[in-house]
Amino acid sequence: MDQTLHKFLEELAKFGKTNDQQVTQRSERMLNITPDTGPFLSILIKSTKAKDVLEIGTSNGYSTIWLADAVRSTGGHITTIEMNPWKVDQARLNFQQASVDEFITQIVTPAENYLPTCSSNSIDVIFLDSERSQYAGWLNQLLRLLRPGGLLVVDNAVSHEAELTEFMSLVQQTPDLDTSLVPIGNGELLIWKCI
Ligand SMILES: C[S@@+](CC[C@H](N)C(=O)[O-])C[C@H]1O[C@@H](n2cnc3c(N)ncnc32)[C@H](O)[C@@H]1O
Repeated sequence: MDQTLHKFLEELAKFGKTNDQQVTQRSERMLNITPDTGPFLSILIKSTKAKDVLEIGTSNGYSTIWLADAVRSTGGHITTIEMNPWKVDQARLNFQQASVDEFITQIVTPAENYLPTCSSNSIDVIFLDSERSQYAGWLNQLLRLLRPGGLLVVDNAVSHEAELTEFMSLVQQTPDLDTSLVPIGNGELLIWKCI
């Protein structure tokens, strides 16, 4: 990664951490992925040569910038969904400052409204980092969008395991999915849609 972008991401991570320690309203927290999760996601994208990447939960764009830098080398594109307009604006500025805006399309609406409009089997990698109580209700849509051989990555699978009980149980009951829990950052659950 380019040193300037690396420094920018370091500053953004610091901002997120300080901000989240100071504010009390959850909607004002950035809730970014941990800094060690960024390179992990980047390697997933690059090693699988993913081109069509969907992120649910942009916040101020910290994780999106990691994903965008990765698709720079695969010739791909990120679509990222966020329903909080205040965070969407911050993310837009951060994408411009990081010079990755050309790789990103921002969707400003609740994910549950957008997902049904997407084509089946169209996405290589989905990064799910949003409102965990909704994941179980979204699972069928997410699997519909994912191409066979595509990957669904779920953040907070260790840090908020209890909130993912229903989702996990549905995943385990669904045929043709391989899973692996990676203990990095807040815990990344990998769900692979079998070919
Ligand atoms: C954990 S934060 C995302 C952090 C971001 N991925 C990062 O690492 O920088 C979750 C975000 O999901 C957004 N969100 C929650 N429910 C949503 C929904 N139904 N549709 C779209 N965005 C949603 C919240 O506003 C919040 O900004």
